[in-house]
Amino acid sequence: MKPIKTTEANPLSSLDVWEEDVLSRYPDPDSIANSKSTEEYRNYDNPVRDTVKEFYRLNHTYQTYDFVQEKRNNFLKFDKKEMPVWDAFQFLNQLVDDSDPDTDLDQFQHLLQTSEAIRRDGHPDWMVLVGLMHDMGKVLCLFGEPQWAVVGDTFPVGCAYSDKVVYPEFFSTNPDFDKPTFNTKYGVYEPNCGLRNVNMSWGHDEYVYQMLKDYIPEEGLYMLRYHSFYAWHREGAYDHLLDEHDRKMLKWVQLFNPYDLYSKNPEPPDWNKLKPYYENLIAKYLPASLKF
Ligand SMILES: [Fe+2]
Ligand SMILES: [Fe+2]
Repeated sequence: MKPIKTTEANPLSSLDVWEEDVLSRYPDPDSIANSKSTEEYRNYDNPVRDTVKEFYRLNHTYQTYDFVQEKRNNFLKFDKKEMPVWDAFQFLNQLVDDSDPDTDLDQFQHLLQTSEAIRRDGHPDWMVLVGLMHDMGKVLCLFGEPQWAVVGDTFPVGCAYSDKVVYPEFFSTNPDFDKPTFNTKYGVYEPNCGLRNVNMSWGHDEYVYQMLKDYIPEEGLYMLRYHSFYAWHREGAYDHLLDEHDRKMLKWVQLFNPYDLYSKNPEPPDWNKLKPYYENLIAKYLPASLKF
């Protein structure tokens, strides 16, 4: 086990703390009453809230255009490890954290709850697979990457930041903020060039998209690649970079998001009953082993 120790570089006691913060920003309209008290969370004296703020300060300060290129050059070689998918889930589960292990479900349970909620609603099987795989990119933490380079809302780099990104005030400490090539509306991009031509801040979304891009239908790839791009799929920002294809795909990203955010349940699914279904699903779409 490699516990994440809270440090200056990793202020969150758990990667889930970021997701809990997202949930407090976008609470489940159906279960606001019984979810963890949003009011309590938003209290300014809340120490967890301070760690989230510090996490975003680091994220917005250090996710520069050059940083993203460096990470892409390194991790998109996929030369770190090769594992069967089932081993990859166990590998991901080595991510344990400083928070209470009794109340937090492991990473695999979150994936399984997401995929099961998608399956219950009768969506196509590739979307169930997306639910199962969408956070696999968090293994980046196990390769020594800091939290702010793995999770957090994503945003385009190389052009002006939208104030629809959470804590936009922290972008003023990013070195790109003052660079004339990057700090205009379009920066290094062409108007409506399409998101496929835009570099996003580096993290688990882009990494898992690149890992699975040959195996999953386009709609599912959008779900993987942009599930943390809240400024787009929740706030409607960055319209000037979108093309028609992005606009068509948006509804799929939006279809996926509630399953990611609102499927958390303290009851773990009965894995023994589910195993045959998921073994078939993985065999149908994915190769025998995945490269990391
Ligand atoms: Fe995620
Ligand atoms: Fe997730």
